[in-house]
Amino acid sequence: MNSTVVKKFCGYDKTIDCAPDKSVSVRAVVICGFARGESIVRGISTCDDVLSAVECMRRLGSRIEIDGDTAYITGVGGAPKRDVILDCGNSGTTAKLLMGLLAGVDGRFTLVGDASLSGRRFDRARNMLADMGAKIDCDRLPTTVCGGGLSGVRLEAEVPSAQDKSAVLLAGISADGTTEYRENVRTRDHTEIMLERVGADITRSGETITVRKSTLHGAEIIVPGDISSATYPLCIALAVAGGRCTVKNVGINPTRRDVLDVLMRSGGDITFTVPRGDAEKVCDITAKHCVLSPMEMSESECARAIDEVPTLAALACLANGVSVFRGADKLRGKETDRVETTIETIRALGGEASYNSGVLTVVGGRKLHYGKVDCRGDHRIAMTAAVLGCCGEGCEITGCECVSISYPRFFEEVIGV
Ligand code: S3P
Repeated sequence: MNSTVVKKFCGYDKTIDCAPDKSVSVRAVVICGFARGESIVRGISTCDDVLSAVECMRRLGSRIEIDGDTAYITGVGGAPKRDVILDCGNSGTTAKLLMGLLAGVDGRFTLVGDASLSGRRFDRARNMLADMGAKIDCDRLPTTVCGGGLSGVRLEAEVPSAQDKSAVLLAGISADGTTEYRENVRTRDHTEIMLERVGADITRSGETITVRKSTLHGAEIIVPGDISSATYPLCIALAVAGGRCTVKNVGINPTRRDVLDVLMRSGGDITFTVPRGDAEKVCDITAKHCVLSPMEMSESECARAIDEVPTLAALACLANGVSVFRGADKLRGKETDRVETTIETIRALGGEASYNSGVLTVVGGRKLHYGKVDCRGDHRIAMTAAVLGCCGEGCEITGCECVSISYPRFFEEVIGV
């Protein structure tokens, strides 16, 4: 396993093109791969999670060619190959989307994944799909989905989760009748936006999304930049004395931008250009160094910006006071137990963090020191450690190659090593 040394930064002045959005790219591959006809996906991410989705859809019969950052997809027209094994790699989004999508179509599909994904539970999605009549033999991978025969029902989110919601909505595309999904915390809505784009009968009214059996057709999809990836350089610019960074083309979907709200409430000097684009708007975001006051994150913000919490917690080490992240229990079921790995990372570099009853607390202003972090194969922890290292006193991270799961060019683009 490689180890990477990150040095303390004495300045930071960068302009970066935002890495393409992983969530939107995975959805584009899965949904366009299932639709009838041709699609073009522009600005697609070729991170490992997206490539896992591409391989799965190819096995199901989709034709997918990737040329640079454009994908040309010929979908299976709602009728995938019927008896296949699908390797979702490390990608929870791929696994949940496929679980829902395939639950509604004839065939027998076995989902497998790497060791980390095989340790994650899919019980909530599986139970909701079972309420629709799905036959899914296990709530961990490997699991076999015997698809077909679904009926639309009314479901309610037990825990806010865009992946669970997506599984249900994709199942709803093939189910008889009407599927309704109610969420009282509005999670990322990329699936809804894309389903509408490819012609699904889907509407939202208040907290409830309604979907009916639909035939999907190919479309042109433009992938925005990934605000989760933009968070790393923006946080570095805020923390390093004299720092400045502009990230261009960042997706600014209202269900993804909580991270910016949290930073700005803490005094973060962040400015935006006017949003442009259609369904998934983008803008350029600039952050400049400033003194941060403590952060306070509510449960609903934490649910929506769940992937950014480790990095915000690391940045909170440099704020002057105690930061509080509520609803942090949701971090436990990710690629690692991110409550544990976030605290471990912060402590390894001299910071102070603890967890109690769903609340992650970080005491800012402790004197940071050089340290070693094992990111345990978790891309977000590797990048979080790098951010805290360069804003603090440097660090050595083992296992950094896992950044390719979401942001293959992270070290060159953001850190410069
Ligand atoms: C994702 C949703 C989030 C996030 C994950 C990607 C998605 O998970 O953590 O990395 O693409 O829908 P939840 O399902 O917990 O919201």
